Amino acid sequence: MNRSIVLNQVGDELSTQIKEFPQKEFEQNELLVRVEYSTINYKDGMVLKGLGKLVNSYPHIPGIDACGTVIDSQVDGFSVGDRVILGGHRFGEICWGGYSEVVGAASSMAVKLPDNLSPRDAMGLGTAGLSAMLAINALESFGLKPSEKEVLVTGAVGGVGSVAVALLSKLGYRVAGSTGRSYERSYLESLGISTILDRKELEEPSTRPLEKVRWSGCIDNVGGATLSRVLRQMGFGSSIASVGLAGGSSFEGTVMPFLLRGVNILGIDSVSVPQKSRSRAWERLAELFPRPVLEEMIEEIDLDQVPEYGTKILAGQIRGRIVVKL
Ligand SMILES: NC(=O)c1ccc[n+]([C@@H]2O[C@H](COP(=O)([O-])OP(=O)(O)OC[C@H]3O[C@@H](n4cnc5c(N)ncnc54)[C@H](OP(=O)(O)O)[C@@H]3O)[C@@H](O)[C@H]2O)c1
Repeated sequence: MNRSIVLNQVGDELSTQIKEFPQKEFEQNELLVRVEYSTINYKDGMVLKGLGKLVNSYPHIPGIDACGTVIDSQVDGFSVGDRVILGGHRFGEICWGGYSEVVGAASSMAVKLPDNLSPRDAMGLGTAGLSAMLAINALESFGLKPSEKEVLVTGAVGGVGSVAVALLSKLGYRVAGSTGRSYERSYLESLGISTILDRKELEEPSTRPLEKVRWSGCIDNVGGATLSRVLRQMGFGSSIASVGLAGGSSFEGTVMPFLLRGVNILGIDSVSVPQKSRSRAWERLAELFPRPVLEEMIEEIDLDQVPEYGTKILAGQIRGRIVVKL
């Protein structure tokens, strides 16, 4: 029997409980994986609250990330004993996910765990970390290089934000971060940040289509009014990697940053990124990410604490990353 978190829907109400399932409930999948660690991303918070119509049917086992060992494989390319990271292709949304001691998945949702990464560290990074890596890869492919001008990370204390700050700093960039939690200054400094901005400053509307150039690049986890303001402050030929919408999904602006400064907005989609690019991004993440910094970012919880932490992440109350021990 395997312990899992189960969401049930009765009318409009969602209920959450921990249930035990026999292994055969998971066996009609290409891969069967014994999970060691999962994590909590912003999207997990949404699934746990039934937001965004992300889940097709109930009862449902949530968890968009998992890491563990293959205990049965019906496909070439994965064998019993392989350590894998499960995520993407709507794992944990259209099929049961990682808040379970055993989980089944399509092989398209799996990549091999890099040799130099532990399952706990992989989930310490999780989809949030992968997205930060994809964002940096995208910015670099559009010409970002370390320079005097800072790269801005919005929502810096959150999961994607924390990993992005630490990675950019490791790569030699000067990093500025916006946050609603200025009391986390020493945490952000430990990740390598050089400048901290109060997020209210970037939420203030501007009447000017272009402002003084401030940023050589941006990883935006917030969207909304922040994205609208930051667009006006981007350097010539620079890019914003648009990752998230913690502050809103719509934004206002003019085409002037595009026409007069050649600014780009690069969309980051960690869900449908092809398996090869996903694997390469995990390898780079494993190679680059400083482990002492990761340890500083991680809080470890048990399966039964997941609903409470799902609520916290939607309220912007999680610092860094959560790992869930199965
Ligand atoms: N595109 C993709 O493939 C992809 C992948 C992963 C995540 N995402 C998205 O990226 C975003 C960040 O995800 P995450 O897992 O890092 O979540 P998270 O840990 O909750 O971080 C989000 C951060 O955004 C800031 N924030 C929260 N509410 C805000 C508001 N109302 N206005 C302005 N800032 C606010 C907070 O940072 P401060 O406390 O520092 O202000 C918060 O910590 C989410 O929108 C998520 O859906 C997208």
